[in-house]
This record gives sequence, structure tokens and C-alpha cells, in this order.
Amino acid sequence: MKSLIAIVLTLAFTSAVFADGEADFKYRQGVMRTIGGQMTSMAAILRGKVHMENFKIHAHGMAELATIAPHLFPAGSGVDKSEALPAIWDNPDEFKAAMDKFVEAANGISAAADSENPGDIGPAIQALGKACKGCHDNFREEHDD
Ligand code: HEC
Repeated sequence: MKSLIAIVLTLAFTSAVFADGEADFKYRQGVMRTIGGQMTSMAAILRGKVHMENFKIHAHGMAELATIAPHLFPAGSGVDKSEALPAIWDNPDEFKAAMDKFVEAANGISAAADSENPGDIGPAIQALGKACKGCHDNFREEHDD
């Protein structure tokens, strides 16, 4: 049986696989779902008062993902299946402003988690949620979830 590594290597050397916007879209989708997963996990911890000891891991994860996020939208990646709106590439300054807010808020939740001051976490998670919504409202198609 072919090992996963062998499959990954085969894919890596089949240039066509990575040569189109479809691959960039797939990668972006994976990262956005991870960002969504960190957010869901943090909200579940705060609402359910469970696994508080893991909060920092998710907050740090969010800050790390925020270093990737600005590079997730190369030109040509707005493929058919994508919910990314053309406004991302048509209004790059506005898009960058929305992205900057997210990066700041992701670093904010990470710092709040490190402070171990519960009073810092509420406002930081709210700012983060606003940053997601601020971008989605203007740059992501309407969707069901
Ligand atoms: C600067 C813009 C921007 C920010 C900030 C942002 N997103 Fe997104 N997000 C998008 C766009 C655009 C899409 C659609 C991508 C596509 O379909 O190509 C998306 C898609 C998603 C998806 C759907 C992924 C899928 O299954 O297709 C989830 C979940 C998501 N975002 C969660 C979040 C969360 C949670 C935050 C905040 C912590 C966040 N996003 C912040 C722009 C942003």
C-alpha cells in the first residue's frame, strides 16, 4: 500500500495539481475551517465552563493562524465554489483593513489568555467575533451556516 507520504510527494510533483486557483481555494477553506474550529472551541469553553485549561492553546492557535490569513487570498482563487466575493480583489484597501482588524483581535485574544485575567477575555473574544463578522459581511457570500 502506498504510504501517505508517497501520495503527498506524488501530488507535490504533479505541477498541475497546484497550478490553479482551485488549490489556493482548497487551502484557504481548510485554514478558515481551522479558524472557525478555534472560535467554536473557545466559545464552548467560555459558555460551558469546561476545559478552561485549554483556552490558551486555542487562543495561541488563533494568533498563529492570523499570521497565515493575509496570504490566503491570491488573485485567481475566487473560483466557482468559493464564497469569496470579488470585492476582495476590487477593494484591496478595505479588505486589508478588515484583515488587519482580525490580526489585531487574534493577537488580542492570545494576550488576554496569557494575562489569565478573566476580565480581559470577554472583551477580547467579542472584538474577535466582530472582526470575523466585519469581514464576512462585506467579503463573503451569503451562506447557510
Ligand atoms: C479578512 C476577511 C476575513 C476574516 C477576518 C475572517 N474570515 Fe472567514 N472567510 C472569509 C472569506 C472571504 C470566506 C469564504 C472563502 C471561500 O469560500 O473561498 C470565509 C470563510 C469562512 C468559513 C467557511 C469555510 C468553509 O467551510 O468553506 C468559516 C468557518 C470562517 N470563514 C470562519 C471565520 C472566523 C471564525 C473568523 C474570525 C475568527 C473569520 N472567519 C475571519 C473572510 C474572512
